[in-house]
Amino acid sequence: IFMAKIIQNHEGCIGCGTCEALCPKFWKMDHEEGKANLIGARIDAKTKEQTLKVDDIGCNQDAADCCPVQVIHII
Ligand code: F3S
Repeated sequence: IFMAKIIQNHEGCIGCGTCEALCPKFWKMDHEEGKANLIGARIDAKTKEQTLKVDDIGCNQDAADCCPVQVIHII
């Protein structure tokens, strides 16, 4: 077990849906907004950046690797 942080630059998301397709446990499309949300994430009021601390990154590496605009980061 280790702690990692998943971060999405929400404003940069183009809503392609790849993260949800590859990693639905963590990602859900908001079809009205046309962007994906990181489920359970903390949302920065100013930047809209979404952040979630996890013990296991699970499928998020696939989501990060396959996001066409590279707005998902794992640190
Ligand atoms: Fe958005 Fe990237 Fe997911 S563009 S919908 S965060 S794969």
